[in-house]
Formats: sequence, C-alpha cells, structure tokens
Amino acid sequence: MKIRENIEFGTTIALWAQCPDRFLSQGYKGSSTFEDKIKLISKNKDFKGVDLYGDWDVNRDNVDEVKEILEKYNLKTYIVTADVNSLPEFGRGSIASPIKESRELGYKKVMEAIDLAEILNSDMVNLWFGQDGYDYPFQIDYIWGWQQVINTISDAADYAAEKNIKIALEYKPREPRTHIFTASAAKMLFAAERAGKDNVGILIDTGHGYTAGENISESVAICQLAGDKLFYVHVNDNYKVWDDDMMVGSIHPFEMIEFMYWLEKVNYGGPIVLDMFPFREDAYDASKESVDFIKRVRQLLSEIDEEEIKALLKEQNGTKSIRMLRKYFLK
Ligand SMILES: [Fe+2]
Repeated sequence: MKIRENIEFGTTIALWAQCPDRFLSQGYKGSSTFEDKIKLISKNKDFKGVDLYGDWDVNRDNVDEVKEILEKYNLKTYIVTADVNSLPEFGRGSIASPIKESRELGYKKVMEAIDLAEILNSDMVNLWFGQDGYDYPFQIDYIWGWQQVINTISDAADYAAEKNIKIALEYKPREPRTHIFTASAAKMLFAAERAGKDNVGILIDTGHGYTAGENISESVAICQLAGDKLFYVHVNDNYKVWDDDMMVGSIHPFEMIEFMYWLEKVNYGGPIVLDMFPFREDAYDASKESVDFIKRVRQLLSEIDEEEIKALLKEQNGTKSIRMLRKYFLK
C-alpha cells in the first residue's frame, strides 16, 4: 500500500526527564537541563520536533530561551500543552474546580499556552483536563462540570483562531482523578462537537485509548467520521489497566500495526509523537526502539497490496485477518 513518505517523529520532553513515581518522588534518573535533553533528542535525526508542557518546560519567563535552544538544535515545537494539571491550585480541578481562583488560573493557563505556541511558531495547543472530573458519588454537578469544559474549549478555540492555531483535545479515563470528564474518544468528540469550532480536533494517545477500553483504530475512524477531526497522535503502550507509557508496540504490536494502517487510511498528516515514560530504561535507547518499531511496521505495510487488506475488511473473516498478520508481520 502507499505510505506517506515524509513522516515526522517527535517526542515529549517528559520522556527524557527523571521519571518520578509516588514511591520515588525524585525520580529514577539524574536531573538534566532543558538544553541537555534537547541536545540528546537531536542526536536521533528521526526527531524533527518536540511537545512542550506548560510550566514544566516552557513559561512566559523562559520562552525566548527555549525558542533559542530549539533553533540551535534544529527542532520544531509541534505542540504546547496547557498546564491545567501540575500546580497545587489544581488539586480540586482547574476550569471545573469549586474554587473560583483555581478556575481563573486554569483559564489563564489555557490562554497562556496559546500565546506561548504563537511565540514558538507552533500551530497547535493541547488541552488535557486531567484534574477536571471527580472521585466520589454526589461530588460534582456533572452538567455544570461538562459545561465548564465545553465553554473553555470554545473560548480557547476563538482565541487560538485569531493566531491560526488549532486546539487538539487529549482524552484519558483516569489519573490523576479517578474519573476525568473527557475520558474517551467519543466523549472528547462530544465536547468538540458542542464547542462547534473548526479549529478544534482530537489528540489520540494510544495508551489513553487502551485504558479507556478502546480499539485505537476504531477511534481514528470515528474522528475521521466526525469531520476529519484527528489532529494529533501520541504513541506508547501499556497493559490496558494503567497508563504505563511503555515502548511503542512492546505489548500490543498487532494493534499498533492496525493503528498505523488506519493513520494512512485517513491521511493523517501530522507527526507521530512518542509520549512515553521509560522509568528504568535508557531514554535514548527506548525512544529509538519505538521509532524503529514504527518505521519497520510502516515499511512492511508499504509492501502489502492494499487490495488484499480491503478484501479482508469486506469479508470480515477473523481467521483470514490474523493469517494476513502472520504472513506479513511474523515472517
Ligand atoms: Fe499523551
């Protein structure tokens, strides 16, 4: 089948960080500067850009310096993620917090991410409302909470449109809250649809899709059906019970093969961005292995006659489908 040739790879910065967990809050690795991380990322020439997280990586004070470092190492800013998750003020939510000051701060952080993206010549901002949800019955008015999310997306879209910036909405079912409102592709598409803005679409994080119980390829398909709404992808793997952020294809290789097929099928034109957390693995090695896995899958896909896959999808014979996977991918 025909595979897009000029594919670009990117990485989050957190992949290259200390990788803390709640048992080892200082992380499993030594600290390094932002420039150290960027320098290391740039050594793998497959990486053309990075995802920057508000406050963790970039803020109003350091944005010029960040821009300079990225230019020095010839890396683009693919996306800026609004920090509505990592500050103590967001412990009870950001834009849907019961505390007015926290809601205002969350709203400000969303708009700030759009300003930062503009300065960094990025055309995409990621909104992930990880703190906005609930943990207990009767804890929140769901209609009010959802309306807060939808209104914020709508306002962000209007502000971003003035700067030719798109909004990519990332969903995840849980962590840090036990229930995040925007928990699945379908719920996120609902929020996007209610916001009703052309520059709003979906970011599929494959690990988040798995923990939401989704078939990630079907999620690509419904984003396409919703009007070409797949704006961005984060790739990683897990055991489907927690967002383990493991190496791409390490646990569910066949599902990742199908995902890569569907990205081609819907003409996804953005970068493929690693969003992993290699707690105990060397970051450079683990990220290279993931990129090489994807490159190999895409190469093997390019060697398959697409008519053969189309015929399988029409016939819906599961055994024949698995036989095709064995024939081309386990040889
Ligand atoms: Fe992600």
